[in-house]
Amino acid sequence: MNLTARENMRCLADDNFFSLMTPKKTDDQTHTTKEQINTEELVRNCFEKFLKNYLKDSELPFLDKNFHSKFLQRGIRNLPSSFECLDSSQPWICYWILHSLYLLNTDFSEELIDEVAKFLDTCQNETGGFGGGPGQISHLATTYAAVNALCNLNSDRALKIIKLKPLLSWIKSLILDNGGMRMHTDGEEDVRGAYCAISVAKLCNLEQFEPQLFDKVIGWILSCQTYEGGFGATPFNEAHGGYSFCALAALKLLGKEKKCDIEKLTYWLVNKQMKFEGGFQGRTNKLVDSCYSFWQGGMFPIIHSVLILEALQEYILVCCQANYGGIIDKPGKNRDYYHTCYGLSGLSVSQYCMDNTVNICGNDESLLNRTHPLFNIGFEGANRAINYFKDHPILISE
Ligand code: FPP
Ligand code: ZN
Repeated sequence: MNLTARENMRCLADDNFFSLMTPKKTDDQTHTTKEQINTEELVRNCFEKFLKNYLKDSELPFLDKNFHSKFLQRGIRNLPSSFECLDSSQPWICYWILHSLYLLNTDFSEELIDEVAKFLDTCQNETGGFGGGPGQISHLATTYAAVNALCNLNSDRALKIIKLKPLLSWIKSLILDNGGMRMHTDGEEDVRGAYCAISVAKLCNLEQFEPQLFDKVIGWILSCQTYEGGFGATPFNEAHGGYSFCALAALKLLGKEKKCDIEKLTYWLVNKQMKFEGGFQGRTNKLVDSCYSFWQGGMFPIIHSVLILEALQEYILVCCQANYGGIIDKPGKNRDYYHTCYGLSGLSVSQYCMDNTVNICGNDESLLNRTHPLFNIGFEGANRAINYFKDHPILISE
């Protein structure tokens, strides 16, 4: 049974809620502490406005699905030409918009499925993988985004365009002797590469042809865990939510998550949730940001923690919804598709418990579709892809 907003929201239930704010000292201020205090002020304004509105309407807060949906529908109509500044991230834009629409329970028309698949095919290279746009070199991040977008369309016609044989040999060529993975041919190595490659390989069932494909990579991922408990981009780098998600999800996909220090990771992770704002920071002493709702929040189901994430939902619902749709990083920022995708993804992850029950902050109508916490696409699309490539091994020789 869902609790009323008064019972499950800290700002309504706790009379001392605003005492969670960082005390303002006039001396000893650094750039970092000033930024933190400014952010808390902006967040406090959101909560105060909400508390006033709640007196008039006790159905609040709710997710403005209608406006979010309109914002995204406008974006999908303009694909891909209107994003010149993101020229090398075109598969990412596809994935962010489509996955946000999926979360909002939008049906994809046959026409849209074909259009997106056709466009992503123009980003695919004969030598394997997908680039950031037509004619660009293959990159593991855009390959992950393209494959996720195609799987999320939940249609065999979209899956059919993926050229498995060159994809497998290109991925193999990026694995270094030390187990690290390059992002692209001759590119930098970091743990995003390992996650992107492993996620793609699992969805496309590539390991059936190379069961030992990622054996070397496991030890390298483990070596990225830092003294803080989170994972850095490479060994001896600062622990960060983005890289920690990549490392943990990659280990989990390979069935090796118990090999890392989960207790230390969990300790680090829970301490990245901001005590007043409710959302997550990506690393120690940095600011709250809605995209970490997924990168950090998305790790909880993986580490099998039964944690109640009301504060996170509250932050997104109260502080991160742009007036006419779209999710913002934090109050004072502009909406964009990246934060809309990861804000909604984090909200979805926090609404569903491991045991299939739901935990919704505020209004029941805010329930989103469930995202697959390892791939961050819909469950149905992920399962279809896995079954499809299990049933079509012949495609490897095409
Ligand atoms: C810091 O930016 C951000 C990074 C160093 C990269 C984070 C990595 C991800 C988000 C994961 C990407 C995942 C895939 C699958 C490609 P910042 O200094 O602006 O932000 P901060 O202050 O919040 O740390
Ligand atoms: Zn962000």
